[in-house]
Amino acid sequence: MKILVTGGAGYIGSHLCVALAEAGFQPVVLDDFSNSRPAVIDRLAAIIGAPTPVAIGDISDAAFLDRVFAEHEFAAVMHLAGVKSVAESCRLPLLYYQNNIGGTLSLCAAMQRAGIRRLLFSSSATVYGAAARSPVREDAPLSAANPYGRSKLMIERLLADLVAAEAAHLPVWRVAALRYFNPVGAHPSGLLGEDPLGTPNNLVPYIADVALGRRPHLNVYGNTYATRDGTGIRDYIHVMDLAEGHVAALRYLLRANDGGYFVWNLGTGRGSTVLEVVAAFVRSSGRSVPCVMAPMRPGDVAESCAHVGRAQAELGWRARRDLDEMMADVWRWRSANADGMR
Ligand code: NAD
Ligand code: UFG
Repeated sequence: MKILVTGGAGYIGSHLCVALAEAGFQPVVLDDFSNSRPAVIDRLAAIIGAPTPVAIGDISDAAFLDRVFAEHEFAAVMHLAGVKSVAESCRLPLLYYQNNIGGTLSLCAAMQRAGIRRLLFSSSATVYGAAARSPVREDAPLSAANPYGRSKLMIERLLADLVAAEAAHLPVWRVAALRYFNPVGAHPSGLLGEDPLGTPNNLVPYIADVALGRRPHLNVYGNTYATRDGTGIRDYIHVMDLAEGHVAALRYLLRANDGGYFVWNLGTGRGSTVLEVVAAFVRSSGRSVPCVMAPMRPGDVAESCAHVGRAQAELGWRARRDLDEMMADVWRWRSANADGMR
């Protein structure tokens, strides 16, 4: 069964391709390589043991999408392509609305033309906004504080509208929004991992840079939160667990023909503080990671953890890998690929 993975050359998409292949599906990557490198495709082939077909282009290009859908028969589309930096979205809101919302509209229209109505979408815990109480359930109130978050929220709403509108006119859409918490880690082969351009914004890539001696220290953004050591708590999830969660959600969508809009949190349900992540990284790498206490980062919350009961009950999936395994895999990837795939 062929599955189209938009953004399949990216950090999460490439790991998803591995999980799909392991589960017996044939992933087909669609990517414009705007934030990834063609070398990913060779590495996927090395892990999977067979080439992964690739369609190079932009999801906003309707004629390109029509060609891809004419060439392959897909059972479903997993839609990960998009731009994802909160800070950049505040500087370049039009890019975020065009790429994320415009791109999703273009993709859904092409799917409709091709008669494909099973779609999984990469959403984010950011749609719960700052007021959410951890562990946050899928039915918590939604809000967003920046253009990136608003783009995810608007896409969720447009997908729900699409499902509702079509329900009265069979055949119907079967759509899932997967709300990721904090994906970290890398494939255990050391061949795939997160490869951010420039200075990393996120905690774990930054820690790895410090351990490699590329940056003098980690700035710990705030140590007076009401948490066990004063630093922020997040629900870090191994990217391979996240990928396997997608496969479970895909199976759920493929299991029936009736329409529906589904939402699942993908997290572990367990939170770690910044200092706990640093300690796990030091244990796994044997390197030192000097830390400097810094002011809280604007927009950060004290704690963000998933309530994972719905995914466990409905998908029969739960995250299995612990923080030490996440950090060991990051270190294997980064120490062997200090410059990523460049
Ligand atoms: P990534 O940047 O590594 O991957 C995105 C991929 O999409 C890249 O390969 C990029 O080249 C491609 N792409 C971007 N715009 C495109 C377009 N218009 N047409 C075709 N390809 C395009 O990001 P990631 O971390 O793998 O994230 C994947 C998805 O998951 C994104 O939608 C992101 O918003 C979402 N997400 C990520 C995180 C996280 O922490 N990484 C958290 C929550 C949600
Ligand atoms: N942190 C530091 N120092 C750093 C980077 C991060 O102390 O150099 C801290 C943050 O303050 C936070 C934790 O590490 O407490 C995690 O920060 P990340 O930037 O790795 O992750 P966030 O939870 O802040 O952000 C993630 C995604 C965003 C998304 C957001 C809300 O990266 O895209 O979750 O869901 F919008």
